[in-house]
Amino acid sequence: MKTDNSTARIAQALRHRATALPPGAALPSVRALMRDMGVGPATVQQALRQLAREGVLESFPGRGTFVAALPAPAAGGDTLWQTLALGPARAGAADLLTLSELPPAGTFALHVGYLPPELRATSLLDVAAARALRQPGVWDRMPGTGLPALRRWFAASIGCPEHEVIVCPGTQPALAAAFQGLAAPGSPVLMESPTYLGALLAARAAGLVVVPVPTDGEGVRPEALAAALHASGARLLYLQPTHANPTGASLTPARRAAVMELARRHGLFILEDDWARDFGFAATPPPLAADDPQGHVILLRSLTKCAAPGLRVGALRVRGAAFERLRAARVAVDFFVPALLQETALNLLTAPSWPRHLRRLHAALRARRDALAAALCDVLGSTCLDTLPAGGLHLWLRLPGEADDEAVARAAARRQVLVSPGRAWFPAEASEPRLRLSFAAVDPADAPTVATRIAEALREA
Ligand SMILES: Cc1ncc(COP(=O)(O)O)c(C=O)c1O
Repeated sequence: MKTDNSTARIAQALRHRATALPPGAALPSVRALMRDMGVGPATVQQALRQLAREGVLESFPGRGTFVAALPAPAAGGDTLWQTLALGPARAGAADLLTLSELPPAGTFALHVGYLPPELRATSLLDVAAARALRQPGVWDRMPGTGLPALRRWFAASIGCPEHEVIVCPGTQPALAAAFQGLAAPGSPVLMESPTYLGALLAARAAGLVVVPVPTDGEGVRPEALAAALHASGARLLYLQPTHANPTGASLTPARRAAVMELARRHGLFILEDDWARDFGFAATPPPLAADDPQGHVILLRSLTKCAAPGLRVGALRVRGAAFERLRAARVAVDFFVPALLQETALNLLTAPSWPRHLRRLHAALRARRDALAAALCDVLGSTCLDTLPAGGLHLWLRLPGEADDEAVARAAARRQVLVSPGRAWFPAEASEPRLRLSFAAVDPADAPTVATRIAEALREA
């Protein structure tokens, strides 16, 4: 018993020494260890054997004892330890990754929420970027709130003072900053169901608890919003009042008034994602932020959708104490948007050809929406779409009640048509099977082919 105890004590002392030494370092001889530790040879030998069994030490007869080399990684690198360290994956992360992957050549990429190459402002951007590159100081730091002239452009376009604008690298990082800056981890955030899955992910990443609020063809339902406000005590609502992604719905004037009234009554922040401002085919109503003297609405705008996905520039409009919170949250993430991008955006937006690009884009998108909607209704029946969205980029296709949206998406992918299964867009259970289709991706001439392949996929799945 006494021997076991002293072996354990010596083993512990040696383990301690070994961890302080690099792999391969030699330990003192058995005789020196006996002297250091005041024990006999048997105890030292037993302790050394124990540590060799544990893989801490390696003994080589005639050469001595050494700290064990680190185990060689398994072929390809064994990173399984990360599974333990990382814990469960965040809901929705895989869906967003799928959407952000670049589509293989030769596929119809209806899962993508950006303009296809032929509709982008690429040649205008080439000119704008070349001018920006000649600008002095284009590699300098920028103010965290953005290039003053670009702030002024956004302010004029939104109809607000320049000091209420923060330039950001697109909407997604602005959402991340807003969720972090406006609510403490663990607080509830109200979200339409369904809603933009990138917003769901950003809210969850900020540690917020997503509270789904039902919607219909006219957007969020005010009575459901009131009930959710009472039940959750939330002070933050993420909302797409105009051409919502994925449904395409826009709030009616009566609902806009009801939502604003609830915001005032409950002291609620509304994070208004106005991503589709440039995609209205008819007159698009102004953002909620346009009539909000008390600063309930924080507006998000982006240029990635109407110009090109690589022009990662957008703006937040925010007033009151929330401005400083969001400025700090933005700077904490990436300090500032590079001057090259901001100057390029400014050159693009102030070029005489920019309004022409938007006009051409509207006409092209409207033609694509009409062609794909008509082709889908031809093969799937007119009930497959609730309404024709008056803007945005997407159709929210209804599948028959028993269909499995993910199986249909897989079957469509086998036919080179990539679509987004509807369930990923719901904060909770999906109310019915749907697919989100980006009509922007389909040339009108290809619409019948795409619709036929989706119908075949549905039959197969
Ligand atoms: C509704 C909505 N908001 C925000 C974003 C993010 O866009 P970006 O970060 O490119 O501005 C997207 C992109 O798909 C979107 O669909």
